[in-house]
Amino acid sequence: MNWNHWIQYFQQNREDLLPIDWDDTYRLSSYEKTAILESVQQFQLGESSEGRCLLEAAKRYADGSGDAEYVTALQLFIQEEQRHARDLGRFMMQQHLPLAQTHWVDSIFRWLRRAFNLEVSVVVLLMAEIIAVTYYKALHDATAAPVLRGLCRQILRDEVHHLRFQIDTLARLRQGRSPIGFLLTHCLQRILFSGILMVVWSGHYPVLLAGRTSLGQFWWLNWRLFNRLFGGLESSLSKLRVTPNP
Ligand SMILES: [Fe+2]
Ligand SMILES: [Fe+2]
Repeated sequence: MNWNHWIQYFQQNREDLLPIDWDDTYRLSSYEKTAILESVQQFQLGESSEGRCLLEAAKRYADGSGDAEYVTALQLFIQEEQRHARDLGRFMMQQHLPLAQTHWVDSIFRWLRRAFNLEVSVVVLLMAEIIAVTYYKALHDATAAPVLRGLCRQILRDEVHHLRFQIDTLARLRQGRSPIGFLLTHCLQRILFSGILMVVWSGHYPVLLAGRTSLGQFWWLNWRLFNRLFGGLESSLSKLRVTPNP
C-alpha cells in the first residue's frame, strides 16, 4: 500500500480549497434554523474528534506491520476532518448558533470506534463517511446560505477521497482473510450499517427532508454506495456525482 500517495494528497488538498466568502451577510431564516440546527450541531461535533484512540491503534498496527507512513497519512486525514469541524463551527458562530458539547449519537460512534480494534474503527468511520455524502448533499439543498452551501461542496469533495482512503486501509488490514472470514465480516457489517442508518435517519430527518431526500432515497443511496465500496467496486466512485449543483 502506497501511503505516501495519501500523504501527498492530503498535503496538497489543504492548499487547494474552494473559496468561501466568509463576509457574506446572509442570515438563516427561522425555517432553516429549525430544520438544520440540531443536526449541524451533531455533525460539527462528530467532525471535531481528535482521534486519539484511533491514532494509538494505528501506531500499534504500524509497529507490527512496518506501515509507518500510515500513521502520518491518518494524522493528515484527522486534520482534514477537524477542518470540517472548524469551518462548520465558524459558520455557526457567525449565525449565533450554539455549538454542542456532547450528544448521545456522537457518543455511540465514539464508543464504537474505541471499543474494538483498528479495523472496526475504520469500518465505523467509513460508514459515517458514506452517510456524510448523502447528508451534506441534503444539507446543501436545505439551505440558501452561501457559506454553508460552499462548505457542503468542499466537504463532499473531501469525503470522496476519505472513502477511498478508508477502503485502502481496509484492503490492507484484511489481506489474507479466509472466504469464511470475509463472509462473516460482510454479514456483521450489514447488520451494523442497518442500525446506524436508522439512528442517523431518526436524528437528522428534518435536514434530509428539507433537502428533498426521503427515507426511501436515504436508504437506497446509502446502501448503493455501501455495496459499491464493500463489493470492491470503489473505482466506480469516480462515476458518482457527489458534488451538488452550485
Ligand atoms: Fe468530514
Ligand atoms: Fe470524512
